[in-house]
Amino acid sequence: MKSSTKPTKVTLSFDNGAPSIELPILSGSLGNDVIDIRSLAKHGIFTYDPGFMSTAACNSSITFINGEEGLLYYRGYPIEQLAEHCDFMEVSHLLINGELPTSVQKEEFTRTINSHTMVHDQLTNIFRGFRRDAHPMAVMVGVVGSMSAFYHTLGDIHDAQSREITAHQLLAKVPTIAAWSYKYNLGQPFMYPQNHLSYAENFMYMMFATPCEKYEPNPILAKAFDRILILHADHEQNASTSTVRLAGSSGANPFACIAAGIASLWGPAHGGANEATLKMLEEIGDISRIGEYIKRAKDKTDAFRLMGFGHRVYRNMDPRAAIMRKTCHEVLDELGLHNDPMFKLAMALEKIALEDEYFVSRKLYPNVDFYSGIVMRAMGIPNSMFTAIFALARTAGWIAQWSEMNADPEHKIGRPRQLYMGEARRELVPISNRK
Ligand code: SDX
Repeated sequence: MKSSTKPTKVTLSFDNGAPSIELPILSGSLGNDVIDIRSLAKHGIFTYDPGFMSTAACNSSITFINGEEGLLYYRGYPIEQLAEHCDFMEVSHLLINGELPTSVQKEEFTRTINSHTMVHDQLTNIFRGFRRDAHPMAVMVGVVGSMSAFYHTLGDIHDAQSREITAHQLLAKVPTIAAWSYKYNLGQPFMYPQNHLSYAENFMYMMFATPCEKYEPNPILAKAFDRILILHADHEQNASTSTVRLAGSSGANPFACIAAGIASLWGPAHGGANEATLKMLEEIGDISRIGEYIKRAKDKTDAFRLMGFGHRVYRNMDPRAAIMRKTCHEVLDELGLHNDPMFKLAMALEKIALEDEYFVSRKLYPNVDFYSGIVMRAMGIPNSMFTAIFALARTAGWIAQWSEMNADPEHKIGRPRQLYMGEARRELVPISNRK
């Protein structure tokens, strides 16, 4: 919408002469203005927006995305600066508390998180209810959801301190649960958290250490892993965050809400795309076959989509993808894998797609999932754990968004309406008379 001055209201006029309706236009501190349609219901009119392509479901101060310019800010800080100068503990503190911690605050926050990394020992039995080959995301949905049965002493969700304790418990315990989902898959014993390690090093320890060998996390890989966590920590009102908010809007237990978010993230159109991207690259196998897959991606009769490409909001390169590509280089160099065929294939695919009219005209660019799988695979993390790691990182954002919603005195239970397309009223015929 281009004009010299910003509009402050919009008038709905009807072609049947019904009285027009004036709706205010609200402005945020950054980004698009919104039309406040809350008063429409009393006029008996609803709006229709499946997939929420044009709908703001809430107001938030946590994350800002400018899709046209490819900008991403956590509490106002550009993702590039956070990825370069901070670690995941600082970013988690920022998302949850609104400010980057001082060094004293960071020490206190880290000590608090480290004091919650253990899980109730009986919770280990929940894992054993799953088949060994269960997908780690299936295990995480179940085990994180079961936390509502172990940590039900949660106080009032409207009490800031109770919410803060919940945030610490989830931030601390989800890595343990995620790593144990992998260990359970392998049939290896659970490795207990070592709280002298950093958050990223601790997760790598729980993933890769065994009781029989000394394990020292590679500091370069731990730093790269920590950056992956930062890049995935929050992303405004994406599908899984909206799921957490909607579940939480009824006052549901926060552990159950985070489990709902994990379930939503699992989908290949969302957080499951990193696993799907690597599967796609493995299936393409060789640069010579890229054209065949680009052709399939354009074919409307083929359900195939180019995994790791496109985004609901970004109409430019996902800033996280550019940082992830750089991290890829660093990790592959560190591991002496700079000739990794998968990475070369991904870069060739990215180049070809970015020159193809179909992708250019639809502003389809690589997103965060395009390179993350390659980094994690190079670090020895199996495909099936990619989305579990995405969930572990996004727990910081989910809990920040859940807390923000519960702190908002105006928040209501989410209850969308519908456009009914079913039968009009009809009278029931008893079964004895039905033909
Ligand atoms: C994440 O929302 C978030 O913030 C999510 C996330 C986060 O951090 O939380 O950023 C994480 O989920 C990233 C996205 C990961 N998903 C994938 O990489 C899966 C592949 N991408 C597509 O499924 C798709 O791009 C979506 C789901 C991501 C976005 O879909 P939209 O916004 O609903 O777009 P669309 O389906 O309306 O596409 C518009 C056009 C269509 O073609 P036309 O009808 O105009 O001819 O673009 C086409 C689509 O067919 N298109 C693709 C494509 N993505 C869109 N064509 C081929 N390959 C693709 N990947």
